[in-house]
Amino acid sequence: MELLRPADVGALLAALRSGAVPLGGGAGLMSAAFADAWGRITADLGGLGLDRAVDGRVGAMVPLSRMAASCAGRPAIAQAVAATGHPGVRRLITVGGVLGARSPRADLPVALAASGATVSVLDAADGTVRELSPLDLWTLPGPFAVLSVDLGPAAPGVYRRFTGHQTIAPSLVSVAAVRRPDGGITVCVGAGLPRPRLVEPDRLPGPDELLDDGEASAGYRHRIMRLLVAEACEALTTGPAGLPSGPQRAAAPLGDGPTCAGPRADGPTCAAPGTDVVVDGTARPVPDGSRPTDSLAWWLRDHGHRAVKVGCEEGTCGACTVSLNGEPVPSCLVPVARLRAGDRVDTAATLADRPAGRAVIGALAEAAAVQCGFCTPGVLVSCGSWMDRHGGLPADEDDIRDLLAGHLCRCGGLAAAAHVLRGVCPADTETDADAAAIPDADADADTDTATGADDRREVTA
Ligand SMILES: Cc1cc2nc3c(=O)[nH]c(=O)nc-3n(C[C@H](O)[C@H](O)[C@H](O)COP(=O)(O)OP(=O)(O)OC[C@H]3O[C@@H](n4cnc5c(N)ncnc54)[C@H](O)[C@@H]3O)c2cc1C
Ligand code: FES
Ligand code: FES
Repeated sequence: MELLRPADVGALLAALRSGAVPLGGGAGLMSAAFADAWGRITADLGGLGLDRAVDGRVGAMVPLSRMAASCAGRPAIAQAVAATGHPGVRRLITVGGVLGARSPRADLPVALAASGATVSVLDAADGTVRELSPLDLWTLPGPFAVLSVDLGPAAPGVYRRFTGHQTIAPSLVSVAAVRRPDGGITVCVGAGLPRPRLVEPDRLPGPDELLDDGEASAGYRHRIMRLLVAEACEALTTGPAGLPSGPQRAAAPLGDGPTCAGPRADGPTCAAPGTDVVVDGTARPVPDGSRPTDSLAWWLRDHGHRAVKVGCEEGTCGACTVSLNGEPVPSCLVPVARLRAGDRVDTAATLADRPAGRAVIGALAEAAAVQCGFCTPGVLVSCGSWMDRHGGLPADEDDIRDLLAGHLCRCGGLAAAAHVLRGVCPADTETDADAAAIPDADADADTDTATGADDRREVTA
């Protein structure tokens, strides 16, 4: 396995031509790593300055959580972003990774296509950089790299998806409708087709064109698609222009992005640039990149940070959540090769020693909302990171549920947790400082010491 770090577009072109696959966030790559889906050579795009979002133009390396400002006036795109995965995944996956994966079930390309967005692509076949419709990506024959996306003009629009699960399962059918300057409506449908497609609202693909699989029949998808298109067009025609309508809950806020959000008194600080990564306050040499498919989760556990639990290893369960430069992320989806000198990683072990962590643990313990405790460290990190930015947890139970959306509790305790965590503030439990401890982190450290790489699949949620 070779990891290339091209510094300019010319070097990227050479990397693509040598067979390297681009590395965006790593969510798709890491969850596929065990199926041997990584290329032998991987090109980390992190050095190309593609992580900026300015005036409706978004670099390929921008994570979805950081698109909010660029989406202003483009509600269809904003809603598609908010519908993608859960908050922890949105902090990881990048605009380029979502487009580059060319998944027929991805949310963002559907909204981009309806919005008239264009994608700047380096095509290794002819060596040129071209502006394409997002839909053209599906027809590119050879390797390519998305460089940036122009989101198109601001316009009223809506995005609707239908899925078996609100936050995690991919869409069965998705629809974006955007009003054009001439008053017409551009509609793009996705998820039910092998690739997204622009359609006339009164000429939708028939059941014979739609996917028919174990998740839904083509006929069912067809009926849902008709309903979603009708509802989206009606919302644009009769509802407040471009505002979400219908039974769905309003999209959750997109978050502040990966930069350290101004530390609170007891919060994490952005690590000073140096030669090390700082994990729970301990400096560790930056991994040398020789094993890029190793995940941050296992790297942490291999270095003794056993408060990090590993469950699904595909970004779904949230057990492995750590704070990376102040942002909670599922560490199983962070390629360890993406760590940079100066990065700061905090696990639940550190958070448990801070007032924010003590407040969360106290509330959970008091309500007996913890059973086996496997999910608790991840929940603690998500709550602690939120408190660092906002002072206390949201008072609204639905907002807490959004906060916990990336966490699964196999003991079923998160409903109780969402209830008791409402409005919890570090100041509430300051006097309880001595009583706090993570339920099982230390015990797990002991029992896991003998756990080798071969045992990893047995540590499941
Ligand atoms: C738990 C979970 C839930 C998810 N839910 C949703 C969802 O609801 N809706 C949805 O749309 N998606 C969802 N996804 C899928 C996610 O959008 C894709 O996995 C996405 O590709 C990840 O982006 P990344 O930046 O992590 O890309 P990577 O993992 O780095 O790359 C994914 C693919 O894109 C290629 N690639 C990366 N960057 C570029 C680039 N700049 N140019 C060209 N190719 C590139 C890679 O070579 C690879 O083939 C979910 C993923 C997870 C793990
Ligand atoms: S989300 Fe990482 S182990 Fe489940
Ligand atoms: S308490 Fe057991 S997984 Fe949540």
